[in-house]
Amino acid sequence: MAKSLLLFFTCIASVLLQTSFAAKTRHFKWEVSYIYASPDCNERLVMAINGQFPGPTIRAKAGDTIHVELKNALHTEGVVIHWHGIRQYGTPWADGTASISQCAINPEETFVYRFEVDKAGTYFYHGHYGMQRAAGLYGSLIVDVADGEEEPFHYDADFNLLLSDWYHQSIYDQMVGLSSKPFRWIGEPQSLLINGRGQYNCSLAAHVAGGTSACNVSSKDCAAVVFQVLPNKTYRLRIASTTSLASLNLAIGNHKMTVVEADGNYVEPFTVNDMDIYSGESYSVLITTNQNPSSNYWLSIGVRGRKPNTQPALAIINYRPNSASKLPESTPPITPVWNDYAHSKSFSYKILAREGTPKPPPHAARRIAMLNTQNRIDGYIKWAINNVSLALPPTPYLGSMRYRLKNAFDASKPPESFSSDYDVMKPPTNANTTQSTNAYVIQLNSTVDIILQNANALADNVSEIHPWHLHGHDFWVLGYGDGRFGEKDVSKFNLKNPPLRNSVVIFPYGWTAIRYVADNPGVWAFHCHIEPHLHMGMGVIIAEGVEYVKRIPKEAITCGMTGKMLMNNKLP
Ligand code: C2O
Ligand code: CU
Repeated sequence: MAKSLLLFFTCIASVLLQTSFAAKTRHFKWEVSYIYASPDCNERLVMAINGQFPGPTIRAKAGDTIHVELKNALHTEGVVIHWHGIRQYGTPWADGTASISQCAINPEETFVYRFEVDKAGTYFYHGHYGMQRAAGLYGSLIVDVADGEEEPFHYDADFNLLLSDWYHQSIYDQMVGLSSKPFRWIGEPQSLLINGRGQYNCSLAAHVAGGTSACNVSSKDCAAVVFQVLPNKTYRLRIASTTSLASLNLAIGNHKMTVVEADGNYVEPFTVNDMDIYSGESYSVLITTNQNPSSNYWLSIGVRGRKPNTQPALAIINYRPNSASKLPESTPPITPVWNDYAHSKSFSYKILAREGTPKPPPHAARRIAMLNTQNRIDGYIKWAINNVSLALPPTPYLGSMRYRLKNAFDASKPPESFSSDYDVMKPPTNANTTQSTNAYVIQLNSTVDIILQNANALADNVSEIHPWHLHGHDFWVLGYGDGRFGEKDVSKFNLKNPPLRNSVVIFPYGWTAIRYVADNPGVWAFHCHIEPHLHMGMGVIIAEGVEYVKRIPKEAITCGMTGKMLMNNKLP
């Protein structure tokens, strides 16, 4: 009896040990540098990690700790990496935002990102300094469920699809153009990429820019991506978009897709023929390979929301044992018309939380309305929120707020609303705006509603899509609407099953309402994920409970005013 009891307890103890020790620390040693590559057959400088573009995929399990030793091997520019969708509970200095959570890492220096991935899902990482994301600094971050846990759906295998768009112009050329007078817009991307590969129409390359074509259609860098499948199986496609500008639509010939995850949260499954995906979003969809097995099929992504001037990118779903080079019998799916917003809305409106998803608190303590406008400062074109265009300070907020430094940034309070007579359907009557480094300070653990209000841009009859992304939190999407948000809309908020996400879109001339709980001490960016828009000031800074942030690693704040104080031993 005593013996069997002892055995019983040893068994229990070993089970406990196994589960508590299952979480791993995963170590990575990375170096960022430029390489020559031809992602769309056209050779260009590309930002790479360990010589790879896109960067290496991180695969971990929920509860693991990721430890990335990042060396900057660029010759003359700083770098940081942001882990998009990871909330960084307790590690706000690892969020990887230059001027916000840390100082840019100098050439030849190394910074250690160490953080927990607490929730299974499809994520990615990318540069967050200047426009480095658009230079190719990105990769996938996939978090599987913890050992002993199960996904709430079945699949036989999964694939990663990291989507992006690609320009032949360098990001320096782009950045200078965006902040020039007269303004030089970056235009539409030259190509779309799936896992870093696409096909630029090379015959065009010979006609532009002097005609010395660096275009090589047989480069292996730009060979179409092939996904090998077996008939009658279920596959999970993990799709994430890190585009600089383009909103995308994805479809697979003859196959329907069942959406099951959005931004690392489960959604109530629904089935579609094609789906829209905006920069900063991620999804998982399930497909069943139940079509004629003697054929292969196209997967296609095309541009939505802007008049397309970019060819769709194609990948092949290769039913084994067919040869991968056997061309699909049916033509590639056709992207819906770029301005068919009804189609886009009907997709977004279908995304609802799966049962079991945490519900939002019933009320918010504070509501902030954020009017998105295109403006001018002294003839330069900017984007602004409530007439403030975001500028970033030389001393990262996390350090300057934590140590209460004076004059490190504009201490004024950003406006929480906008004039009641602002007509969102017309260009601004006075387009002038101002730049500021000011930040919204939120009471720790309070609930906040944000109403993102879209408007007409500077030109008549133009209102664009803006996909907004919040760092450090997930939020509930309470609702969308057309025109100007009004008090009457509050009663229509979805408090029953709003999806939890970290990115959400505002449609042209529309509004989107979100709610979140400010439960993560730190300083966080909330911004439009379109790279040139962010560069032109389309974002805000949100700070909460910064006094509770534990000791910030020195390496995160060795620049600007905090850097000087460290040098003089003046920081606690
Ligand atoms: Cu993926 Cu601040 O963004
Ligand atoms: Cu935008």
